[in-house]
Amino acid sequence: MNEVLTVKNVTKSFQHKTAVNNVSFSINKGEVTAILGPNGAGKTTTISMILGLLKPTTGEIRLFNRLPYEKQVREKLGTMLQEVSVMGGLKVREILALIRSYYPDPLPMEDLIRLTGLTEQDLKTRAEKLSGGQKRRLSFALALAGNPELIIFDEPTVGMDITARKKFWETVRQLAYQGKTIIFSTHYLQEADEAAGRILLFKDGAIVADGTPEQIKASINKSSISFITDPETSLEKLYQYNEIDRIYRKNNRVYAETANTDRVLEFIFQEKIGARDIQIERGRLEEAFEQLTSETKGAI
Ligand SMILES: Nc1ncnc2c1ncn2[C@@H]1O[C@H](COP(=O)(O)OP(=O)(O)OP(=O)(O)O)[C@@H](O)[C@H]1O
Ligand SMILES: [Mg+2]
Repeated sequence: MNEVLTVKNVTKSFQHKTAVNNVSFSINKGEVTAILGPNGAGKTTTISMILGLLKPTTGEIRLFNRLPYEKQVREKLGTMLQEVSVMGGLKVREILALIRSYYPDPLPMEDLIRLTGLTEQDLKTRAEKLSGGQKRRLSFALALAGNPELIIFDEPTVGMDITARKKFWETVRQLAYQGKTIIFSTHYLQEADEAAGRILLFKDGAIVADGTPEQIKASINKSSISFITDPETSLEKLYQYNEIDRIYRKNNRVYAETANTDRVLEFIFQEKIGARDIQIERGRLEEAFEQLTSETKGAI
């Protein structure tokens, strides 16, 4: 069986809010998937349902062809949540030993330490005395303790410094190389672009894009030409030029999106609008993200 996770027509409604609206997707063994989307898009709610922490209002979720809360699923699942809470009173090494003992086939302690970058000092410290970033490292180690086949992280690198972040992604790459299935949410698009083979983009509780980072970037299939010009300069001609799909100002620059940069550049020079510091950018994930999540909502 290649399918590790199936989410089928899943909706989650709270009293006044539909947080996840009829979402379906499945994930195969060995895939590294990033869940992206603006605040409130439904990422954490979806992840919580996959983990069996929330029950879908309607729809079905299967992990390894079983229900999320079944014991056989828990043993194959490692997770690190958006809100980190650690057990107080115990030293890090003791917590790791305890959690490892719950699993039939835990990761050796040395591997756990090596993979997560916990230091000797961390291991001797009581969990409640760890800094925010160190707590994240502990929670990363706890996620891996049972040597899980499927690992789910909700915004794993928030609060990590540059070194910790690098170490984290290095380990994720190793885990992916070993064939683990990994799902993570993030607001750092570059992380998704670099680490994930697949992106699920959420907006208003629904999936608005699903593909490789390259496919998602290509879906906008546009480049933008940006330049600086005097604020008084009229951009009317550009607005009317049919090779330009969208034009906007951001941080003092004018951006013109187009599928034909050559023609648009020619036009800009021809019209003598005094464009300075011209830059051409190929589609970036940020742009795809902005475009795919900014379309105005239909009436509900
Ligand atoms: N327990 C709850 N009761 C009521 N509404 C909730 C509850 N949990 C989430 N919501 C609502 O559901 C929507 C989706 O929330 P969710 O936490 O899944 O978003 P998210 O995509 O994880 O956002 P973020 O990027 O901020 O973490 C939000 O509008 C939120 O207010
Ligand atoms: Mg969230």
